[in-house]
Amino acid sequence: MMEPMLKIENVSTGYNKKPVLQDVSLEVNEGEIVALIGPNGAGKSTVLKAVSGLLPLWKGKIYWLGNSINGNSPAKNIGLGLTFCPQGSRVFDRMTVGENLEVGGFRLSRVELMKREEIVLELFPALKTRLREDAGNLSGGERQMLAIARAMVPPTQLLLLDEPSLGLAPNLLGDVFGKLTEINRELGLAMLVVEQKVKDVMTICHRVVGLKLGRVELESSPEVLRGDGALLKNLFL
Ligand SMILES: Nc1ncnc2c1ncn2[C@@H]1O[C@H](COP(=O)(O)OP(=O)(O)O)[C@@H](O)[C@H]1O
Ligand SMILES: [Mg+2]
Repeated sequence: MMEPMLKIENVSTGYNKKPVLQDVSLEVNEGEIVALIGPNGAGKSTVLKAVSGLLPLWKGKIYWLGNSINGNSPAKNIGLGLTFCPQGSRVFDRMTVGENLEVGGFRLSRVELMKREEIVLELFPALKTRLREDAGNLSGGERQMLAIARAMVPPTQLLLLDEPSLGLAPNLLGDVFGKLTEINRELGLAMLVVEQKVKDVMTICHRVVGLKLGRVELESSPEVLRGDGALLKNLFL
């Protein structure tokens, strides 16, 4: 059996003294898209913050490619190929599309940055024609694409995505999820995707993990979940 790329083992953490995650364990295997779903406030974003290094753990371990990354800074984790696209497609409006991409590659050498930008723009051709435009001029869907593209400028092996569909019109939602599928297929890039749009994310993911009140409540294939409505209903109850 192949070792998982990312292994979260019995992690508990929270904010100040407030506990949020309780004994959370989950794994992401090579090439896999794992959807992390659950009600508002369940702790989904907190899981991504803990993995990326933004939030220290109270208990448990996180392993990346077999090594503990407990206590790593976010920058160090990016350097290890673990990159994060936070909630709300926060791009810098008053910087150009090109400058936004450069921010994503701030740790790279000039040569490496150019190389990575080329690879990423190949995947996002719509951004290529708008490199010199202010990101503030982009539509909602384009901003989300830019946010994802930016997270992929550093050589990434696992993309952590927090609600990539947030605020998008239903017709654009398909574009973003379609792009994630394309990236997963073409590059074999693994993803841990937090989503509220459960039905939609189930069409692109290989596995679903459900979080409720800071605990892992369900783990299933999308096929099984689709066949058993009670499972999802119980998660969101
Ligand atoms: N920066 C913070 N400081 C204090 N509490 C927070 C902070 N961020 C989130 N929380 C709390 O942690 C819990 C889980 O939040 P979050 O991980 O954002 O949930 P989800 O992403 O599943 O909606 C919520 O009760 C939320 O209010
Ligand atoms: Mg959230």
